Amino acid sequence: MKKFSIVVAGGGSTFTPGIVLMLLDNLDRFPIRQIKFYDNNPERQKQIADACEIIIKEKAPDITFVSTTDPETAFTDVDFVMAHIRVGLYAMREKDEKIPLKYGVVGQETCGPGGIAYGMRSIGGVLEILDYMEQYSPDAWMLNYSNPAAIVAEATRKLRPNSKIINICDMPVGIEELMAKAIGLSSRKEMVVRYYGLNHFGWWTDIRDTKGNDLMPKIKEHVAQYGYALKTDLEGAQHVDESWAHTFAKAREVYAVDPDTLPNTYLKYYFYPQDEVAHSNPEYTRANEVMAGREKHVFGECNRIAQLGASTGSTLEIDEHASYIVDLARAIAYNTHERMLLIVPNNGAIVNFDPTAMVEVPCIVGSKGPEPLTQGEIPRFQKGLMEQQVAVEKLVVEAWAEGSYQKLWQALTLSRIVPNARVAKELLDDLIEANKEFWPELR
Ligand code: NAD
Ligand code: G6P
Ligand code: MN
Repeated sequence: MKKFSIVVAGGGSTFTPGIVLMLLDNLDRFPIRQIKFYDNNPERQKQIADACEIIIKEKAPDITFVSTTDPETAFTDVDFVMAHIRVGLYAMREKDEKIPLKYGVVGQETCGPGGIAYGMRSIGGVLEILDYMEQYSPDAWMLNYSNPAAIVAEATRKLRPNSKIINICDMPVGIEELMAKAIGLSSRKEMVVRYYGLNHFGWWTDIRDTKGNDLMPKIKEHVAQYGYALKTDLEGAQHVDESWAHTFAKAREVYAVDPDTLPNTYLKYYFYPQDEVAHSNPEYTRANEVMAGREKHVFGECNRIAQLGASTGSTLEIDEHASYIVDLARAIAYNTHERMLLIVPNNGAIVNFDPTAMVEVPCIVGSKGPEPLTQGEIPRFQKGLMEQQVAVEKLVVEAWAEGSYQKLWQALTLSRIVPNARVAKELLDDLIEANKEFWPELR
């Protein structure tokens, strides 16, 4: 049986050890001969790599492990690029969150001004990796979950239309796990869903068990009362911090706006921006929480393992929920025709919506990539929201490609959570200053 060679781009990511453990746990479904790490920050990557090398030696000594900052070494002889980079690291995420809050505007990694700022940094980084892949392993596929996925996906559609890249988000996976638990199923894989939207901006319209029985009424009953919050914690889940608990509970109020559908949690930033600002601490945002929590834990554990030379007593956990990445790689490698939510060019999947928009819809995935499933016509409410949001995302990509100050100002002005054009301009000027090192020059 063929064994695969993969490169993890953003080897220094806090998610890398969890993903490596997950890959090692799935070798019977997805055999691997080589794992490479690539990052442009050697010090950060080394800490993760030293520990992962030990773990791989212990669990699967046949796998070749390579950690490098050299693109040719990293991208030569690979079948899949699994990309999760964060251009500007948490230091810049912190600014994305704190600068808007100074203006009383939502400060969030992927939504509103913070997401726009992050998008302007990410586009170049993701394109660079895609270009390396095409140069050194032209038959490979890039599975990208670098954020902000909506903007990154639009950039790759527009600027690299023929590239083999698939953009994917784990939020629907995470929410579906909560839904399944809420109604007493053992796994989200017992559900078949219909869903449409943009990334971090979508709705479930139909959820059935594998026999075709409608599960929506039971799930809605739960969401109307608790949102996506559960009475008991989900074991080994990614979204466990207090701020996530708040997000899952808030879904109750997001759901109330349209009880015909079930919403993605990120819609809270667009429907209740004032609530989000009111309960944010402008001195201590999610970036601070992650630096003090996940980053500290992962790097602390990796350094400990490296020093010990063994993973004995490790508290690093398998990122079980990230097995959707293996499902995706397998779908391409073995033509499994797995049904998955992916971010793809609309092309009529949402009938009454811009065919050139990057939308998140269920797709059948085989060796030629995703085939989107039509979701029919969408109602006026969602269509109106999505048209505004997709225009923001397209304007950001145009602003990046053309170096246009005006278009980025328009993008910020159009964002639902920015109150007016004056605040948009003040914010833009602050963000330009903070992102000098990363953004193209705007004229
Ligand atoms: P992190 O900062 O810990 O890791 C990112 C790594 O990328 C760093 O080591 C950094 O040096 C590296 N990097 C930055 N620019 C690079 C470039 N141009 N080339 C190579 N490497 C580069 O961040 P994290 O919190 O672990 O998150 C990583 C990414 O995954 C983020 O974009 C995050 O938003 C995303 N993410 C996405 C999903 C999803 O559902 N799509 C889920 C979780 C995380
Ligand atoms: C969800 C989203 C990701 C996002 C992550 C942030 O999983 O789908 O796109 O990166 O949340 O989590 P964090 O713990 O970094 O705030
Ligand atoms: Mn996401």
